[in-house]
Amino acid sequence: MREVVAYLGLGANEGDREQNLRTAILRLGSTPGIRMLRVSAFAESELVGDGPKQPKFLNGACAVATTLSAHALLSVCKALEAQAGRALPAKKNHPRPLDLDVLLFGDDRIDSKDLVVPHPRLSEREFVLQPLRELGVADAALRALAPAPAPRLVTTTAEFAAQCSRWIEGGCVTGLVPTMGALHDGHRSLFERARKECDRVAATIFVNPLQFGPKEDLAAYPRNLPGDLEVCRQAGVDVVFAPPPSEMYAPGFCSNVDVGREAETMEGAQRPGHFRGVSTVVARLFAIARPHRAYFGQKDAQQVAVIRRLVQDLGFPLHLVECPTVRERDGLAMSSRNVYLDAKDRAAAVVIHRALRAAQAAFAAGERDRDAIVRAARVVLEAEPLAAIDYLELRGEGDLLPVPPGPVRGGRMVTAVRFSGGRPVRLLDNMSIDAAAETSTS
Ligand code: PAJ
Repeated sequence: MREVVAYLGLGANEGDREQNLRTAILRLGSTPGIRMLRVSAFAESELVGDGPKQPKFLNGACAVATTLSAHALLSVCKALEAQAGRALPAKKNHPRPLDLDVLLFGDDRIDSKDLVVPHPRLSEREFVLQPLRELGVADAALRALAPAPAPRLVTTTAEFAAQCSRWIEGGCVTGLVPTMGALHDGHRSLFERARKECDRVAATIFVNPLQFGPKEDLAAYPRNLPGDLEVCRQAGVDVVFAPPPSEMYAPGFCSNVDVGREAETMEGAQRPGHFRGVSTVVARLFAIARPHRAYFGQKDAQQVAVIRRLVQDLGFPLHLVECPTVRERDGLAMSSRNVYLDAKDRAAAVVIHRALRAAQAAFAAGERDRDAIVRAARVVLEAEPLAAIDYLELRGEGDLLPVPPGPVRGGRMVTAVRFSGGRPVRLLDNMSIDAAAETSTS
């Protein structure tokens, strides 16, 4: 039977702190499968992080030899905390009669829903490091064990797949946020939503050559990995997958995903092959990461419709989460391409939002005729000489398929507009004609 040396953190700041720690140590040592090896001295420390005003902690650590698994050892710790009178699940940063943490478990690295080893905040906490040093864990070993700074950057599909598999095996709900980088607050909102709903969040940053046409802006697409990593760090992303193209598409790669109907018109018609490239890369990312949840922005509503179709038709077992469009204060939808607008075009670009709102206003005023609603938006766009309409349509909510002329009960205005004062820029936007159904944030 494998016997492992594990190190446990001990803490208490409620009741008779020293007595609580000593009782826990005795109980640990008499638990079948656990031998107490060494116990450090105890020292006082203040609460780290925010929390209600509370007494100081008494902290220490102990080394045990155990034949239990790391999770079984954690269960013993939880049971001892409960016996000491701690209400579980514990409120974060509230006073507690006993706190037992599995800090190290042999050389194992564990990344599961309820247990991460080495303890993720170990290297930041002197009240843990000092007793560990006293127990003979060398500084060099502690440094080597320190977790990589978040987010972890991986560049190979093998590493990314292995990381995601470890999370899944550890019982974590995983969230995937595919992006092409040059991250802004629109992307950030996706990360934050994923952070709220998932145990682990993976962002991908990959300017996907397959989805750019030969005359499009692949080479000029904005790239800023250091800035992107900082956005990911702030938003609590756990892993960033930023592969080179050769990693996503090995020599000989020749399989593509072609979505039908949803991908045929609007962006599909304007940019032949675009959705094939999007669908192929997204399917490949789903296959590598196997996420429980995948996050996409409504800003690219047709892309969401295409991916929803792909998920349904190919049977990816995941939940697709569609997130509201994040806008600048003046209503312009945030986009990585907005940086290319010169000052005049940037000022003129608010016309897109105004036009979509005009369609909403027409619907709110009782207009139900499809073409009249579209016209309400069109006159606004056409009044802006710097804007050229690629398409402007009222489509069915969700699938964005065409709706017949005549009366409508709702729907979504979808548009692409070109500006070419400085560099040519195409901007996409969309909005429900029913203001109450639109959930955009700014
Ligand atoms: P990218 O344009 O980087 O967008 C990544 C995700 O962020 C998409 O789901 C997009 O809809 C969302 N997003 C962009 N701007 C947004 C905004 N203002 N508000 C809310 N969400 C916004 O879309 C792609 O990359 C690629 O096609 C990709 C899906 C990654 C495949 O290569």
